[in-house]
Amino acid sequence: MRSFVLKNISEGFPQFVALVDGQIIGWCDILPNARRTVQAHCGTLGMGLLPKHRRRGIGRELVRRTIDAALAFGLTRIDLTVREGNVNAIALYKAVGFETEGLHRKAVQIEGHYEDVLSMAFVIAPSG
Ligand SMILES: CC(C)(COP(=O)(O)OP(=O)(O)OC[C@H]1O[C@@H](n2cnc3c(N)ncnc32)[C@H](O)[C@@H]1OP(=O)(O)O)[C@@H](O)C(=O)NCCC(=O)NCCS
Repeated sequence: MRSFVLKNISEGFPQFVALVDGQIIGWCDILPNARRTVQAHCGTLGMGLLPKHRRRGIGRELVRRTIDAALAFGLTRIDLTVREGNVNAIALYKAVGFETEGLHRKAVQIEGHYEDVLSMAFVIAPSG
């Protein structure tokens, strides 16, 4: 994880971590989809917080700052996928401007149970 975060920072990618007493307790990154020129304006968001630090507004602050950094980086579309049962994350993503675009049926299997996955996106220039 450490080398992944350090590589993102060295590449100048939108990447933030939250620190408590010098320890990383959460992260958010938006990695550019640079493999295809036609998708160079797109990035993919990932984030998470250690359980005891959730529900204190840290996730909202992390995602807001990382979106701002992604826009400054030149991205105009941010994609993510989230399990349909992850209501906390879905509420956060909607609160900061993501919209649901699709449903991937039975896209993950956890302990023998299938779950649907939503695709969501934040689009800054929908008519551009
Ligand atoms: C999803 C996650 C990052 C949210 O971070 P957080 O710091 O707990 O969220 P915040 O305290 O900033 O809350 C921001 C908003 O998210 C939503 N939210 C977060 N936790 C919630 C909960 N337990 N119940 C309902 N809504 C919740 C609310 O809309 C909230 O706004 P509000 O405080 O005005 O009601 C955190 O729960 C987490 O790390 N979960 C596990 C990893 C994960 O699911 N990552 C995303 C994978 S796609």
